[in-house]
Amino acid sequence: MTSVFAIDVENLTKIYAHKTVVRNFSIQVEYGKIYGFLGPNGSGKTTTIRMLCGLLKPDVGSGTCLGFDILKESYNIKSNSGYMTQRFSLYGDLSIWENLDFAARLYDVKRRSKVVKETIERLGLGERQNQLVEQLSGGWKQRLALAACILHKPKLLLLDEPTAGVDPKARREFWDEIHQLANEGVTVLLSTHYTDEAERCHKIAYIVYGDLLVTGTVQEVLNASGLTTWLATGDKWSELAKKLSGQPGVEQITPFGNTLHISGRNADILEITLMPYQKDKSFTWVKGKPNLEDVFVQVMETTRGSI
Ligand SMILES: Nc1ncnc2c1ncn2[C@@H]1O[C@H](COP(=O)(O)OP(=O)(O)OP(=O)(O)O)[C@@H](O)[C@H]1O
Ligand SMILES: [Mg+2]
Repeated sequence: MTSVFAIDVENLTKIYAHKTVVRNFSIQVEYGKIYGFLGPNGSGKTTTIRMLCGLLKPDVGSGTCLGFDILKESYNIKSNSGYMTQRFSLYGDLSIWENLDFAARLYDVKRRSKVVKETIERLGLGERQNQLVEQLSGGWKQRLALAACILHKPKLLLLDEPTAGVDPKARREFWDEIHQLANEGVTVLLSTHYTDEAERCHKIAYIVYGDLLVTGTVQEVLNASGLTTWLATGDKWSELAKKLSGQPGVEQITPFGNTLHISGRNADILEITLMPYQKDKSFTWVKGKPNLEDVFVQVMETTRGSI
């Protein structure tokens, strides 16, 4: 089976002890794009990533990754991919340079010292290259983990929650690097719990307890939600939230600072409900756009019964 896609899989299903943890997962990812997986804890993001790169065999389903069969050619997939695991998995009692040299040996990288040196430079690790990894902060460890994944110049990067626990500056630098790699043609698939990171992906997939519920560009996902969101800003937002709770058309009320996001799928009913409240001059009312968090909460709520 040949495919024009970097990842092209159909109906991947994984069952652990009679529990289906990934159900009929199908996805197509274009070369050179950044694809984000989002979803609550235990939804199957890590399991899916592991099935895609051939580390885990699906119970049902088939497909290709980098043109290789995920069931029969996992060796080729693994040698052309970089996988950053959810938990930091390098050696604390080795230095940055030693860890990278070791990883380069594992991948049988040719002209190892040169490649390690270049990678250290690329990721700005030079000033700490001789420091023991156990002494590094989260941001440095994350950069090192990324360095270890790209030493062998993979065509695909699978990054499992790469920025968990990392400060905003380090996250931004990390994302700049990810975009740079994508510009060079590397396909990136990553999982994250941060909706602001989802907005930096070309496409996203929202997975809830084994089901792929929504997929597309951020704009497509926002549009498809059919949600209307009103923003009410004012000091007494908590009283307003109480009054609106359970009223016709009001499906979600979420505070962001002193702004309430009030959302619902029936724009007309929502508007009729809000009309009397909009006369209250202690609030500024703006018809805004739902954000990804509003949409994900909505998707979760509306599918809860069927999961
Ligand atoms: N080896 C295993 N044996 C049994 N159950 C497993 C195994 N690996 C994962 N699971 C279960 O499969 C489900 C999906 O887990 P997975 O780690 O893929 O979720 P996740 O979306 O990556 O979660 P998180 O956001 O917490 O990382 C969970 O219910 C988990 O307990
Ligand atoms: Mg996970």
